[in-house]
Amino acid sequence: MSAPATEPAVAIRNLTVVFGGVVEAVDGVDITLERGQAVALIGESGSGKSVTLRAIMRLNPERKTQIGGEIRVAGQDVMAMSPKALQALRGRAVAMIFQEPLLALDPVYTVGQQITEAIRQHERISAGAARQRALALFERVRIPSPERRLDAYPHEMSGGMRQRAMIALALACRPQVLLADEPTTALDATVQIQILLLLRELQAELGLSTIFVTHDLGAAVEVADRIAVMYAGRIVEEGSARDVVLDPHHPYTIGLLRSRADGALAKGTRLKTIPGSPPDLANRPPGCPFAPRCFLAEERCRVEAPPYVDVQPGHRAACWRTEAAHAAFQADKAAVAEAVV
Ligand SMILES: Nc1ncnc2c1ncn2[C@@H]1O[C@H](COP(=O)(O)OP(=O)(O)OP(=O)(O)O)[C@@H](O)[C@H]1O
Ligand SMILES: [Mg+2]
Repeated sequence: MSAPATEPAVAIRNLTVVFGGVVEAVDGVDITLERGQAVALIGESGSGKSVTLRAIMRLNPERKTQIGGEIRVAGQDVMAMSPKALQALRGRAVAMIFQEPLLALDPVYTVGQQITEAIRQHERISAGAARQRALALFERVRIPSPERRLDAYPHEMSGGMRQRAMIALALACRPQVLLADEPTTALDATVQIQILLLLRELQAELGLSTIFVTHDLGAAVEVADRIAVMYAGRIVEEGSARDVVLDPHHPYTIGLLRSRADGALAKGTRLKTIPGSPPDLANRPPGCPFAPRCFLAEERCRVEAPPYVDVQPGHRAACWRTEAAHAAFQADKAAVAEAVV
């Protein structure tokens, strides 16, 4: 794909995704992924992480989805792409690792067949050469006995191996951009972290630009350059990974960090320890969507949606009370930081 080298790998502006005319799953998201960088998307279940990732490849169900805003991949306008151009984009320039590996892998073909098929869909190479590449990929993602495992069916592999096979499948056509949704399946925490570290390694080696979803803030700091915290379809805080974790300015981010510090959030588990629940996306309240659960909310927060505040260069938070939030965090910073970094 040719584009000026200065164009970010992915640039999303004011993305909105509405399902069935009522569910505002994504509400004005901006994300910039610079080439060769990794951005982590963090947030509770239902905050719109997967919907955002899928929008980049236009994979949301066509008929009931209204999508608005701007999405550019390596300078190309994804919103304006024909079905044919989208097909070329998917799996080639942009590859995705799905949250449900068993849904992404076809149960009736061996993993090796699926990888060689994916390669031959996009490139004119022989079956033998495609299999050689599949084998090299299996070695690269460190699947033991790669030759034998190529001939395994997805259900014959463990969850961790399946996840590695999915990474191999995603890398089969040498993509520039990798979108990785954290698996929900019962992979244990250490396996998940190994997979994230593998992704980080591959990213550096292959010069990939990556957006990945994770529920683990500690892992995000290790593998991402930037962190974007999502809440109810919006990015509430975004900045360099260290700034967001060590110097948060949004009460929601602080809540996530605190719940982790309390030990309530073991490494790798889902983020759900802040009391209360996110708003109904079909019936958004006015004001800040986090206000009903916020320890700092005041009257204005329930009435008027907060604008982004640039709290540091390259670090922004959508909150009326960034100063108070930051001060509250400073007060117990040591304990929280120790638990995360
Ligand atoms: N095809 C769809 N039709 C209707 N609503 C949808 C559809 N896909 C997602 N949603 C809704 O959009 C919201 C965001 O969903 P999304 O899958 O992006 O959450 P998530 O942040 O990935 O959560 P998780 O951490 O559980 O994977 C949810 O309320 C979900 O129910
Ligand atoms: Mg998801």
